[in-house]
Amino acid sequence: MFEPYWTKEKVKETLPERAGDSHKGTFGTGLLIAGSESMPGAALIAGLGAMRCGVGKLVMGTENSVMQMVVPVLPEATYWLNPFDEYTEPLPEVKYKAAAIGPGLPNGEPLESRIDQLINLDFSLILDAGALTKRAYPTRNHPLILTPHPGEFERITGMSVKEQEKDRLSAAKEWSRRLGTVIVLKGKETVIAFPDGDAYLNPTGNSALAKGGSGDTLTGMMLGMLCCHENHKHAVLNAVFLHGACADEWVKTQSPHTMLAHELSGLLPAVWKKYE
Ligand code: APR
Ligand code: MG
Repeated sequence: MFEPYWTKEKVKETLPERAGDSHKGTFGTGLLIAGSESMPGAALIAGLGAMRCGVGKLVMGTENSVMQMVVPVLPEATYWLNPFDEYTEPLPEVKYKAAAIGPGLPNGEPLESRIDQLINLDFSLILDAGALTKRAYPTRNHPLILTPHPGEFERITGMSVKEQEKDRLSAAKEWSRRLGTVIVLKGKETVIAFPDGDAYLNPTGNSALAKGGSGDTLTGMMLGMLCCHENHKHAVLNAVFLHGACADEWVKTQSPHTMLAHELSGLLPAVWKKYE
């Protein structure tokens, strides 16, 4: 069967340039709603991924306690504090280019209400981790991107992991069409399916990524890529490709047992350079 890989040649063709006369407004502001008291690290890991991927500015919607921990490591981000508090304003007065919600957040309320609100706004939106539940999505002007691992895919579709494994490409394509969303079905050879029928397999990555936190890095990277790419398909595909390519770089000299998710963001600058 023909297997539609997103290849390094395609990455080289589609990575954006950072024009000499650009400014932070050229690339747009990303909104990342992530992290909670018991999962604070997800916000930091995703934030690092986003800021390494070309955003103009990053606003993190997170708890005050999480911010305290992020600031010393990622001083470049700004904040929308306590986005789930009853008295918090709906959304800050900033025009976002893209948003991501879910890493380090528990399922259920009040997350679901925030998602309802974000879905009706005009920007590209990534739903990950706690934000992935079984629901219908409205038609919107900008892409909606779901990034499930197989267990989360089962949660949102009802299709068992065993059933998915028979043909992951078809499973992702079918549900992308049915839900009207981009589906990034993660794992070895992540499948990226678009509601118009386009679908690709990602050739990069290895078992160094089989570790808590690596999905959070990917969500952050994808958010950043959506800010600096014009074409959302290229943004999603290049994020998945480079995320895996960083892990491939790690195993050239170090054991796959030892990589930490936040180290992917440290590897990215040199890896990205190879594809420019
Ligand atoms: N080969 C290539 N890529 C892999 C491999 C592998 N063998 N194993 C994992 N990956 C990649 C996936 O494709 C994906 O990009 O690593 C990433 C893992 O993402 P997630 O499964 O979302 O992991 P993460 O969210 O970081 O951590 C697990 O998910 O189930 C929840 O709450 C649970 O905290 C837990 C979290
Ligand atoms: Mg995850």
